[in-house]
Amino acid sequence: MKPNLKIEIAGVKFKNPVMVASGTFGYGEEFENLIDLNALGGIVTKTITMEERQGHPPPRTCETAAGMLNAIGLANVGIERFIDEKIPFLKKLNTKIIVNVAGSSFDEYVEICRRLEKAGGFDMLEINLSCPNVDEGGMAFGVDPKATEKVIRDISKVSSRPIIAKLSPNVTSIADIARAAKGGGAAVVSLINTLVGMAIDIETGFPRLSYTTGGLSGPAIKPVGIAMVYKVSQAVDIPIIGIGGISSWEDAVEYHLAGATGIQIGTANFIEPDVTMKIIKGLSGYLKSKKINSLKEIIGKVRT
Ligand SMILES: Cc1cc2nc3c(=O)[nH]c(=O)nc-3n(C[C@H](O)[C@H](O)[C@H](O)COP(=O)(O)O)c2cc1C
Repeated sequence: MKPNLKIEIAGVKFKNPVMVASGTFGYGEEFENLIDLNALGGIVTKTITMEERQGHPPPRTCETAAGMLNAIGLANVGIERFIDEKIPFLKKLNTKIIVNVAGSSFDEYVEICRRLEKAGGFDMLEINLSCPNVDEGGMAFGVDPKATEKVIRDISKVSSRPIIAKLSPNVTSIADIARAAKGGGAAVVSLINTLVGMAIDIETGFPRLSYTTGGLSGPAIKPVGIAMVYKVSQAVDIPIIGIGGISSWEDAVEYHLAGATGIQIGTANFIEPDVTMKIIKGLSGYLKSKKINSLKEIIGKVRT
């Protein structure tokens, strides 16, 4: 028996639930010689903004216990170069392509999505409402239900593809934000982005990141991600993509049981570039050992 790992999210058919998280896998081509990109369920690209961005000066990452802090500042090639230089490579792959987008105003989010819609060559949009490491835009949209609803509604007017709203954990009630995203027309929610954190060098007294604070990711945030996926699954009836601290197939199973249909792997790609391949294999082995035919059977099946 070969268990079936196929899933469907908002009408898009994935060969397995394992995707790579935005900002941790470049534009895909960086990993071409390390893993079989076509074996992935999906690739989420680095956040694209209107203009090309250099990001913050170094140091912009640092290690912490059970995780890392980053304040990259959304360094990226900008929408025009993305369309000209990155989409041609991505669209040749036999995996689902999700383009992650951020703007510094409602109009900017819409304009980037309009240009992508015209260019084509991808399957879904992921709207980054949750980056804690920029002064403008990013998290400002994802901590306010009204702004979340408006930005998703505005984008849905120019997009024919399903919209994933990527939510921030840095909020009072993530369930309220998820409801607002659905209200605006999001077909899917993905969560979580990083938690705001800070580390200080005790020899010099300076913060360890040039931006002072950064986003915490990695194994340290897994229990937060699981709890938030579970809470959101109780609040909205749209598919959830679970993110946060997944570095093994066991972690992936936990997210599926909590209610995630798909999962994204972030920080673990830096430590073990082929971790996604191991997770795909491990998920299959788990289902086989439990005599479960299809991954779909375990989604949301936590016993509470
Ligand atoms: C170095 C780094 C860069 C990131 N850049 C982005 C980004 O550009 N856009 C985005 O939506 N999330 C970004 N993230 C957040 C991840 O996509 C993910 O939501 C988060 O790291 C939690 O997952 P993890 O614990 O598996 O890393 C970044 C994370 C890291 C570590």
